Amino acid sequence: MTDITRDVVIVGAGVSGLTAANELVKAGKTVAVLEARDRVGGRLWTREIDGAMLEIGGQWVSPDQDALIGTLEDLGLETYSRYREGDSVYIDADGALTTFTGEIFPVSAETQREMERLIGVLDELVAEIGIAAPWDHPRAKELDTITWKAWLEAQTEDQEARDNIGLFIAEAMLTKPSHAISALQAIQMAASAGSFTHLVDSDFILDKRVVGGLQSVPIALAEKLGGDVFLNQPVRRIEHDDDSVTVVADGMTVSAKRVIVAVPPNLYSRIDFQPALPRRQHQMHQHLSLGLVIKVHAVYDRPFWREAGLSGTAFSPYETVHEAYDNTNHGDSKGTLVGFVSDETADGLFELSEEERKHRILTSLSHYYGEQALTPEVYYESDWGTEEWTRGAYAASFDLGGLSRYGADLRTPVGVIHWSCSDLAAEGFQHVDGAIRVGRETAAVIADELNA
Ligand code: FDA
Repeated sequence: MTDITRDVVIVGAGVSGLTAANELVKAGKTVAVLEARDRVGGRLWTREIDGAMLEIGGQWVSPDQDALIGTLEDLGLETYSRYREGDSVYIDADGALTTFTGEIFPVSAETQREMERLIGVLDELVAEIGIAAPWDHPRAKELDTITWKAWLEAQTEDQEARDNIGLFIAEAMLTKPSHAISALQAIQMAASAGSFTHLVDSDFILDKRVVGGLQSVPIALAEKLGGDVFLNQPVRRIEHDDDSVTVVADGMTVSAKRVIVAVPPNLYSRIDFQPALPRRQHQMHQHLSLGLVIKVHAVYDRPFWREAGLSGTAFSPYETVHEAYDNTNHGDSKGTLVGFVSDETADGLFELSEEERKHRILTSLSHYYGEQALTPEVYYESDWGTEEWTRGAYAASFDLGGLSRYGADLRTPVGVIHWSCSDLAAEGFQHVDGAIRVGRETAAVIADELNA
């Protein structure tokens, strides 16, 4: 067992913990980052699978994410645009396929009007409620105690409009069924991206990727810290008093003045806090849970869909794969599609054998792109639900009523214990941008405290 002493110890070498660590070093503090896995990056992971470079976790960057964009610039990392030339594909409830360009799916004129009206209503609510403190809004409790599903039902009789608007938050973002999240949580998700219109616009929200993969960010941040990042060190216990902390991992102990717990909130209870956390935290943490999504990668000898004039962008709330995109790597002659299977649909597929699951998923892709989609050279499913140090994807959100009840305390430190991760962010909530923002803010608070 190694014993070391630092000013601040950080639990978790995801992008949030590594950002905080780098900021603290810039502020003249000493740090140690303890990471449970044998790699850095957490939910960012670039891997080679059967010769194909795949982004198993997060990958896209949108133009409003200036904390992430600034970090990419500082680290000298290059970006490239997602392929989007040509027609997108939509499949309706009857299985009919239509191609379209722009953001609004090719639905009847009446449904289109309803979708546009709903987007307008949501944009207004987002502007009114804002992202800084949605729990403070006079309508917070009302909107937090109605499900996203019920809210949509109260807004319109048009089932297809409801299904499509619901998709952008439930399956596509929070990766939970629309009956399991509140309207306030949906509004917060949209507000974190600037507006609901932004979520609908895949050219905005899924704009760019990083050459070499988004895990390049945590890898570069860890390199800057040199020997102060310790892998294979799951933190088991945090002993804390008024002005010091001892963090016990499997192979080492770090004594420090502050600790940043930079892991997703569903994992807090895996750490033995001594003394135990206060009632408020014990309760709040039980109301936060991760969604579930299978990210599917299919690599073909060439991007064959482009030959048919398709962009690769595909949507349907009625398909196993509810959204899919051209995910061809920068400068690659092979063509890659990425698709997503969310929440209860994912549960159903995990009941099947591996072969049957693959068949169902590829069949769904073939509905969008034709028979050629059935025979990829490389096929892989990112399954974060089985990852011990994550346990779901993409990130954590509250159950019904949780955001208005606990939101204000999400990041309240407990004495010398501070919290940091994308799941606690305002702008960039559930995204790498938010992880960086919270990491910076947490580091600034601690640096000020230690300098006082
Ligand atoms: P993260 O979870 O990354 O880091 C926490 C770290 O703590 C992990 O390394 C973990 O191993 C470690 N840890 C946990 N418990 C520990 C313990 N007890 N002791 C020590 N270490 C411990 N975002 C985006 O911006 N664009 C996108 O396209 C996507 N897409 C996407 C797809 C998929 C499939 C996923 C899973 C996620 C995304 N995201 C995304 C979300 C994005 O990846 C995510 O928000 C951030 O990477 C989270 O970074 P954090 O540092 O907050 O947590």
